[in-house]
Amino acid sequence: MADPDIEKVLLDEEQIRARVKELAAEACAAFEGRPILVVGVLKGAFIFLADLVREMHGPLKVAFLRAESYRDGTRPGELEVGCVGVPDLRGRDVLLVEDIVDTGRSLVGILDAVRELGALSVRTVVLLDKSDRREVDVAVDHVGFIVPDEFLVGYGLDHAEDYRNLPYVGVLARRVYEGS
Ligand code: IMP
Ligand code: MG
Repeated sequence: MADPDIEKVLLDEEQIRARVKELAAEACAAFEGRPILVVGVLKGAFIFLADLVREMHGPLKVAFLRAESYRDGTRPGELEVGCVGVPDLRGRDVLLVEDIVDTGRSLVGILDAVRELGALSVRTVVLLDKSDRREVDVAVDHVGFIVPDEFLVGYGLDHAEDYRNLPYVGVLARRVYEGS
């Protein structure tokens, strides 16, 4: 049963599991057996990354980047990018893992940061794409689901740090953030 703050379940566990498996296969094929550095964008991508790498076969390492554009509200603020225990990216083939792309501004900033750290190549995999809201051009190589312009939580996505642990992706009830 969904949490009372969830207006509706958009993607259930089964749908997510099946799509994550396909994304893992697609991403692995694109690297053609080369060792991959899988870089998750904290914190939203932590669950997606954990499920994704368990479906990936072949040599890989895991690292994380911290990037935040949302504070406690539901509209974007200023982007901050910082490395969290990221090994040397120089010469690495990177698979950047992000939970959701909305305006695209965060991903553009993160991609710049990854390139500045010396990655040899960067591919992107994003679970959710609010494609109608895109404001800047950004290449997403692998997209899980195109989603509507609603505030989504669960499967790693939060509102004010809550709901990340929900096993599904749901639409947050407006009353939760109205006036915030
Ligand atoms: P963008 O820079 O507008 O593309 O925003 C992307 C970032 O905003 C994501 O990495 C999320 O952290 C956050 N975000 C965008 N939409 C949602 C949402 O519906 N729920 C939770 N976080 C979101
Ligand atoms: Mg994010």
